[in-house]
Amino acid sequence: MGEAKKLYIKTYGCQMNVYDSERMVEALGGNGYVEVGSPEEADMILLNTCHIREKAAEKVYSELGRFKSLKADKPDLKIGVAGCVAQAEGAEIIARQPMVDLVVGPQSYHRLPEMERQAGAGKVIDTDFPEEDKFARLKGRAKAKRGPTAFLTVQEGCDKFCAFCVVPYTRGAEVSRPAARILDEARELVDRGVREITLLGQNVNAYHGAGPDGGDWSLAKLIWALDGIDGLERIRFTTSHPNDMGEDLIEAHGTCAKLMPYLHLPVQSGSDRILKRMNRRHTAESYLRLIERIRAARPDIVLSGDFIVGFPEETEEDFAATLALIEAVRYGSAFSFKYSPRPGTPAAERAQVDPAEADDRLQRLQALITRQQREVQDAMVGRTVGVLFEKPGRMPGQMVGKSDHLHSVFVSAPDLAPGDLRQVRIESSAPNSLAGVLA
Ligand code: 5AD
Ligand code: SF4
Repeated sequence: MGEAKKLYIKTYGCQMNVYDSERMVEALGGNGYVEVGSPEEADMILLNTCHIREKAAEKVYSELGRFKSLKADKPDLKIGVAGCVAQAEGAEIIARQPMVDLVVGPQSYHRLPEMERQAGAGKVIDTDFPEEDKFARLKGRAKAKRGPTAFLTVQEGCDKFCAFCVVPYTRGAEVSRPAARILDEARELVDRGVREITLLGQNVNAYHGAGPDGGDWSLAKLIWALDGIDGLERIRFTTSHPNDMGEDLIEAHGTCAKLMPYLHLPVQSGSDRILKRMNRRHTAESYLRLIERIRAARPDIVLSGDFIVGFPEETEEDFAATLALIEAVRYGSAFSFKYSPRPGTPAAERAQVDPAEADDRLQRLQALITRQQREVQDAMVGRTVGVLFEKPGRMPGQMVGKSDHLHSVFVSAPDLAPGDLRQVRIESSAPNSLAGVLA
């Protein structure tokens, strides 16, 4: 056997891309590649890209520009673009950056090993939307030990068509993987050392995969089946749409001990007028009532959200309604973005908000979120919570892990190892982490 070829993969965007990148590394392992940490040493460079906002897409082109000299020095170097920019722009990428050899959309990753073999001879592009479960065909050979946490994609795509969002175009229609495959993959992850699984989907709570018993399984049903896997200690899921929070899923937050008390539930805006223009199909009030029901099932749940400021036609009054909604919910964390017009989406054609005004709103919103995040975190002091330890901290003898509520927690305890799950009494709160002692 010859020397292993070296693969450098850089991942942008969401957790689903992180999961996809892991699968691509495993699949290219079958072609003789091992992953390396820098583009300079690589025989193949793969960018797994994000198209959600304009800045994310532009980053890809500037990154590619930096690889030009590498390719000049090493003509055999293969350069590939995967992910949502690949899906959205296809051959246009090669037109703009001719040193790119391979363009592969998220629905075609099972073809990557074959495409890599062809890439030396000419350009290869695949941005089709096939019907089959690509992950079943993207099985790598790697069975290496893993860290204590892992992502597992259960659903992809979106049928919601929010007026600002490219996801329904880049990731396509909603598709759920069959439950039996997910359960097999989860068992395999647990065998490899994983103790916490985060189920991923653009619309994960709309999951409706074929069950082993026939019939559609809801996400709650899938979670209960995962709950039965020995050695799996924690289950999370992301990202959810408010309209798909079924009664069984809300109930599971109160009754399934492995389902962690943390929920990412984007609302985007607190103004009903803007929500309507966003095609969200819910109101601020219906969202607040939903939060009440979730909190009734699991009172200590920590909530997180996504917000867009400066959506077309957003007035100061609309923005004030968003701040009021945030005040009412009390988020433990939130992601907020300035609206970015995406070509091909309905909102891109509308009257845009003055960018300086949008910047100002973003700053005010982020100040409020930062304050809430700190308050929710500070309220953990004095409580005893589960912590799954992941790695050593900066101080000798220190370990850091994530609490049930997804806070980073530092503990001084030399005997702890990654993968240990312990009860910890929280003693203090710093800007982005908690510290405690073993209970
Ligand atoms: N501009 C700004 N933010 C966006 N998001 C999605 N599309 C856009 C856009 N065009 C945000 C939403 C979504 C998150 C993943 O990204 O808040 O929930
Ligand atoms: Fe995009 Fe999420 Fe709306 Fe789907 S539900 S269109 S992924 S923001």
